[in-house]
Amino acid sequence: MNDLIRFFLFKRRLKRSMEQTHQLPDPWSAGFQRDLLHRIVDSTIADVDSILEIGSGDGVVSEKLLEKCQRLTCVELSTRAIKKAKQNLGAEAERIQFISKDIYDVSLRPYSAVVLSFMLEYLGMNQFSKRFVWLMLDICRHTNQIVIIQPIHQEIDMKRIETVAVILYKNGFELLTSQIEKESTPHLYVGSFAKSNKNLQK
Ligand SMILES: C[S@@+](CC[C@H](N)C(=O)[O-])C[C@H]1O[C@@H](n2cnc3c(N)ncnc32)[C@H](O)[C@@H]1O
Repeated sequence: MNDLIRFFLFKRRLKRSMEQTHQLPDPWSAGFQRDLLHRIVDSTIADVDSILEIGSGDGVVSEKLLEKCQRLTCVELSTRAIKKAKQNLGAEAERIQFISKDIYDVSLRPYSAVVLSFMLEYLGMNQFSKRFVWLMLDICRHTNQIVIIQPIHQEIDMKRIETVAVILYKNGFELLTSQIEKESTPHLYVGSFAKSNKNLQK
């Protein structure tokens, strides 16, 4: 089976599995960690024009991101998740542009910041490293800041974070802040990367 077919099947399986998972009320306990996630957003993102959130789930992080920008775009694979996010956010949800798609199928536009929260394990970065690198390169081209929030369940999660950091360094980003939040179980890695001045997108 060639890579393209394997990737297509992977995406289809993931979509099915995410729709099923989103039948649960708070599948990743993000609601339970809401205050912590909001503090993380506060400490990593200044007031900016536009933010892209990839994989916005139930909208727990989106709720805080809305305070930080004029335009929030959320790309989310699961239609059920978007419905839940709209319910959770009420009237505020009208300020969000939801794109109900796989991020791999979206043509990106420029954003002041891009946020990936609890996302790395879903992007197939180990099985489809070439495609994951292309996605990250595309993100790098379209933003000046990237924030990664990643639970550290096991060693592979640190490897994923290191891989992302290397891609970002090689593409003109530098680490602004990096911390491990020990308040949550599992601990959360929080990294904020910004394009160095000479690489800033105009
Ligand atoms: C673990 S949840 C994280 C939700 C949210 N970012 C948070 O921190 O609460 C991962 C979310 O990403 C979505 N997702 C997974 N792969 C995706 C993809 N390729 N494109 C868009 N969304 C995706 C899933 O449907 C799910 O809602």
